[in-house]
Amino acid sequence: MNNLTVSRSLGVGLAGLLAAASLAAAPAKAARTSKHAGQGITCVQCHGKSARKEAVPMRQCVGCHGDTVALAARTAQIKPTNPHQNRHYGTQADCNLCHHEHAVSENLCLPCHTRFTFQVP
Ligand code: HEC
Ligand code: HEC
Ligand code: HEC
Ligand code: HEC
Repeated sequence: MNNLTVSRSLGVGLAGLLAAASLAAAPAKAARTSKHAGQGITCVQCHGKSARKEAVPMRQCVGCHGDTVALAARTAQIKPTNPHQNRHYGTQADCNLCHHEHAVSENLCLPCHTRFTFQVP
């Protein structure tokens, strides 16, 4: 194998990996609502007793899921990057920027950084 063949097959290998990664990414569009109802968590535990149901402050999420530094430590190995610790927000990105309770979650980073292709539960 000469150098050219090596670099060509490396190129195919990387392209294959990228294609596989985007295929794996595709099913994330499926609607996923209410990851909490199945856990027996009630409306009040997020929204409080208020009759108006609107965006939930991040402290409610952190109250159950643990502080943001501990959360970031649990996802430290996630590729392509830790979703819970990043250059712009440190560990303090508002959960609701990615995770949605009543709608399909979204990947905050992707519109600006096409290489951060993680799937948000
Ligand atoms: C795990 C926390 C959580 C639970 C449990 C929860 N919600 Fe929500 N809710 C949210 C968040 C966060 C929003 C803001 C929109 C979003 O990101 O989904 C919201 C928004 C809403 C809204 C505003 C309209 C909208 O969709 O933006 C209504 C109405 C609502 N929730 C009703 C309910 C009801 C009724 C229940 C119980 C069956 C419930 N929620 C349980 C987190 C929760
Ligand atoms: C009353 C406690 C409670 C509150 C408040 C709460 N959660 Fe949860 N959440 C849970 C439990 C319990 C589960 C299911 C077990 C698990 O996956 O940790 C869960 C599951 C999740 C999951 C799915 C994890 C997975 O592995 O798929 C995400 C994401 C999540 N919560 C984010 C949030 C966000 C964002 C908020 C705030 C809007 C929030 N939670 C508020 C208790 C809570
Ligand atoms: C930049 C987007 C983003 C933000 C902001 C974000 N998350 Fe996540 N979160 C993710 C992704 C992506 C995963 C899936 C990681 C994986 O592949 O296991 C995840 C996974 C989780 C899980 C499951 C982790 C586990 O232990 O397996 C929980 C719980 C969770 N997030 C809660 C939160 C809470 C609470 C906040 C706010 C303090 C938050 N997230 C903020 C993107 C985000
Ligand atoms: C609105 C657009 C925007 C969003 C959303 C965004 N970024 Fe960035 N990001 C930038 C810009 C512009 C730069 C270059 C300036 C700088 O370095 O701060 C950058 C730089 C970076 C860098 C350092 C340079 C590099 O490319 O390695 C990292 C790492 C990064 N962002 C991660 C993230 C992660 C993770 C998310 C999601 C949680 C995210 N960004 C969301 C615009 C964005």
